[in-house]
Amino acid sequence: MRRKQLLPPWLLVVLFLSWSSAAPVPASSTTTTTTTLPGQMRRRRYYDSIFSLGDSYADTGNGPVVFGWHALASPVMRPPYGSTFFGRPTGRNCDGRLVIDFLAESLGLPLVPPFLQAQARHGTGSFRRGANFAVGGATALDASFFHRWDPPGGSVFPLNASLGVQLQWFQSLKRSLCATPKGCDRLLRRSLFFVGAFGANDYLLAMAATSLEQVGSLVPAVVRTISAAVERLIVEHGAATVVVPGVIPVGCAPPVLATFADPDPAGYDPRTGCLRSINEVATRHNALLQDGLRELRARHAAATVVYADFFGPVIDMVTSPAKFGFDEDVLTLCCGGPGRFNYNRHVFCGDPGASECKDPSARLFWDGVHLTEAAYRYVAAGWLSAIT
Ligand SMILES: *[C@@H]1O[C@H](CO)[C@@H](O)[C@H](O)[C@H]1NC(C)=O
Repeated sequence: MRRKQLLPPWLLVVLFLSWSSAAPVPASSTTTTTTTLPGQMRRRRYYDSIFSLGDSYADTGNGPVVFGWHALASPVMRPPYGSTFFGRPTGRNCDGRLVIDFLAESLGLPLVPPFLQAQARHGTGSFRRGANFAVGGATALDASFFHRWDPPGGSVFPLNASLGVQLQWFQSLKRSLCATPKGCDRLLRRSLFFVGAFGANDYLLAMAATSLEQVGSLVPAVVRTISAAVERLIVEHGAATVVVPGVIPVGCAPPVLATFADPDPAGYDPRTGCLRSINEVATRHNALLQDGLRELRARHAAATVVYADFFGPVIDMVTSPAKFGFDEDVLTLCCGGPGRFNYNRHVFCGDPGASECKDPSARLFWDGVHLTEAAYRYVAAGWLSAIT
């Protein structure tokens, strides 16, 4: 695999990224945005709140705040982001709702407020039903790790919002949510935690800077970092239910297909048209992550640790697009610039010269590596059955 500049850093950030002004609503009175998902009928577990750490696949509005710290304009705060559901850009890297939104709706909880944005508006009082710490562009490994690849005078990645930093934000919020160990235990025992997805940004940043062999060698450290964060939530914070998503088949993502095009047809999986060697990194990440979670379950029998499959449902949609109501050119972006797969590294969704597909509900990929609301709805249905 040759070295290639995958994307300018700010675009990488865009690859992964959210807002809901939704005030906390009692579980029983969520009326306006409830969707019906398979599995909803047999709800067995109840949760009082959702706390979420992650990257752009889970970010409901923190990204633009973090961008602001670095004097960067967030590319997702403009049309057509949010056009399918919210009717305005919310900071989500999507045309509508993310998996976490569908899950919150199905569980009768308010959409999870983005911590950085809601804190600035309402203080910390608004997080008793949960908080979302996910930031588009976030990595599992600390940002400092990636500075080894900084070009002279620049930064391969400027954000300071890794998994470890998000854990610190959670810790600071927790102090304001509950004062005594008993009070905290009551609150957090009935909370649903999400740790991830993490990993895609680590690998994409590394892919832009180094060989695929080197990228693959990061997998154990990335997975250990995720497992360690889950264990800290259980041991230090009393989390009782933690959902840990794997990574998507990154080798199917249109920017990756366009940037790392392989002249050898054998480089592609004939079933999917995705890049084999890059998907192998994702498969290895997901396998090691599941091993790590099994170890955590053995050490902490009282906790429920759920692996959430992000890879399988995306492969399902790539291999059988018609079954999901998707167009045949399933690996083409809905929103992007001129070029193969509708991907152009200089013209991003929302830029002048970019175009948007007529019907995002007939598409799997929204912009870059992100999926459409239609795709997230399907992914959410699978995860819901694992947590209820
Ligand atoms: C990153 O953010 C954390 C938490 O807000 C802070 O403790 C740390 O000093 C920051 N690191 C850098 C390099 O700015």
